Amino acid sequence: MTTNEIRQKFLDFFQEKGHAIIPSASVVPENDPTVLFTTAGMHPLVPYLQGQVHPGGKRLADSQKCVRTDDIDEVGDNRHLTFFEMLGNWSLGDYFKQEAISWSFEFLTSKDWLGIDPKKIYVTVFEGDADAPQDDESIGIWQGLFETVGIAAELGDRIRAYPKKKNWWGPAGLTGPCGPDTEIFYDTGKAHNPFFGVECHQNCDCGKFVEIWNNVFMEYDKQADGSFVALKQKNVDTGMGLERIAAVIQNVDTIFETDAFQPVIAKITSLSNKSYEGNERAFRIIADHLRAATFIIGDQRGVSPSNVGQGYIVRRLLRRAIREGRRLGILDPFTHLIAEVYAGEYGGHYAELTQNLSKIVDELKKEEEKFGKTLEKGMKELEKMLSKGAISGEGAFLLFSSYGFPLELTEEILREKGESVDRAVFQSEFKKHQELSRSSSAGSFKGGLADNSVETTRLHTATHLLHQALRTVLGDHVAQKGSNITAERLRFDFSHDQKMTPEQIVKVEELVNESIQKDYPVHCEQLTVDEAKSRGAIGLFEDKYAQLGGKINVYFVGDEKKGFFSKEICGGPHVEHTAELGSFKIQKEEAVSAGVRRIKATVAGM
Ligand code: ALA
Repeated sequence: MTTNEIRQKFLDFFQEKGHAIIPSASVVPENDPTVLFTTAGMHPLVPYLQGQVHPGGKRLADSQKCVRTDDIDEVGDNRHLTFFEMLGNWSLGDYFKQEAISWSFEFLTSKDWLGIDPKKIYVTVFEGDADAPQDDESIGIWQGLFETVGIAAELGDRIRAYPKKKNWWGPAGLTGPCGPDTEIFYDTGKAHNPFFGVECHQNCDCGKFVEIWNNVFMEYDKQADGSFVALKQKNVDTGMGLERIAAVIQNVDTIFETDAFQPVIAKITSLSNKSYEGNERAFRIIADHLRAATFIIGDQRGVSPSNVGQGYIVRRLLRRAIREGRRLGILDPFTHLIAEVYAGEYGGHYAELTQNLSKIVDELKKEEEKFGKTLEKGMKELEKMLSKGAISGEGAFLLFSSYGFPLELTEEILREKGESVDRAVFQSEFKKHQELSRSSSAGSFKGGLADNSVETTRLHTATHLLHQALRTVLGDHVAQKGSNITAERLRFDFSHDQKMTPEQIVKVEELVNESIQKDYPVHCEQLTVDEAKSRGAIGLFEDKYAQLGGKINVYFVGDEKKGFFSKEICGGPHVEHTAELGSFKIQKEEAVSAGVRRIKATVAGM
């Protein structure tokens, strides 16, 4: 069954069950400035989940174009994607748990539909907490369904209950519709890998179980004060990643081996004369990033590459894909050729790709030309160097640092001439450069920032440690919303929609104090936005810094030997060693506004 067939089957199934099939909304959200892209099928439907009447009625189904950019740097492994399609069916105050779960089971297992062996299906439900009880109703429904196929579904085995972190969905923003969910997993039959824990279970990360479908039972409306109020209407929101279910049905190990990516992989192969095997990472980055770029530029609210907002993401996706292309030896413009393949493949369902194809092609050519010029300058320099003899490690570093010319590309070109780059020299140049950056930032500290007392410098570094510790304890949604430092205390505002528990506060303090005791070194490097991101730096780059085009300061706490505790974009100044902070204490944790918390903290002793 092809990806196109699976999508069609899903829509046909729910049409038979009385659902109106609605077209995918734009991947660029229309009325929501809080997110760059549509990240789930329910996102464009929020007003209807909150009670507004939908012209299609109370039962809807679709395949929604989604983009998630949190994991952009993970793409290249075997499971991350930026663009994906989410199949979904909705009840807007119509059916609820019984029908939703039964239909999921029927669609997945019936021979008329996907025909998955029910023995391979495992599920999870919400275990209950102070906000809502354990989802016994879903447990009962699942047990009944499994019984019809002769499977005794025990709680704690085929059905497992988990807390909110796993079995609760939404709201999509900080407030809005949400509720407990039941997730459906597929047992790949692989042996459990004990590295991930003694016992395997649905949410184990060993890879034996793959999540394929989520049914959310939206009964609550989360308020700005963090409380949960019953929604006027009870809704069902479901989401099934099309690429993932295709991998299951087609019995392949990764999403990139499904039929959806084969035409593009073949195209990359013919353009580069290289095979997918052995070059998986580059192929996957090109295939994923150009699919996302094609859909974003070709969207009904299409966005072109630029230096801000969604456009900046498109630019990043394209440049990364182009670099990988060059690395594979594709030296002529190629991104538009890949887009044409995708438009052909997806245009049947997403007509906008066909309609906007000439615009997509134009934009891609323009952007590739622009980026090509940057690379060309580096190339000229490289030729010049070559004419004077072999390219040294220093030379390769100069190309990298002054022209943004990737080391791998220099290596690739030299390889063709039977030469190579001395990586050790390149690395040592790299290190030297880091040292220089460090002393120059120390110099500017002494020179220009006279009113930065020792105290505020210590608090500045403490703020970085706090920021990272909050992300470790609360999650990666924590982002800086404001910071203010006096000689007495730091004040740090960050996104998080609940009051921190006393345990979380203690944990954060412990993490910060541990990193003080480990006496991590602190150093600064000047990086481009892309470099900073690919090295995992956090901080405020999207709008302010990206537009400057130049390099930004990234402070690293830690080193190769001790590991890195924090990497953050910042103007500085900072201490040189974390032990200079003495000890760290949170004095106060409070709300600032909806979804934003504030911490005041101090450092003491030396
Ligand atoms: N909205 C739910 C999800 O994205 C279905 O998983």
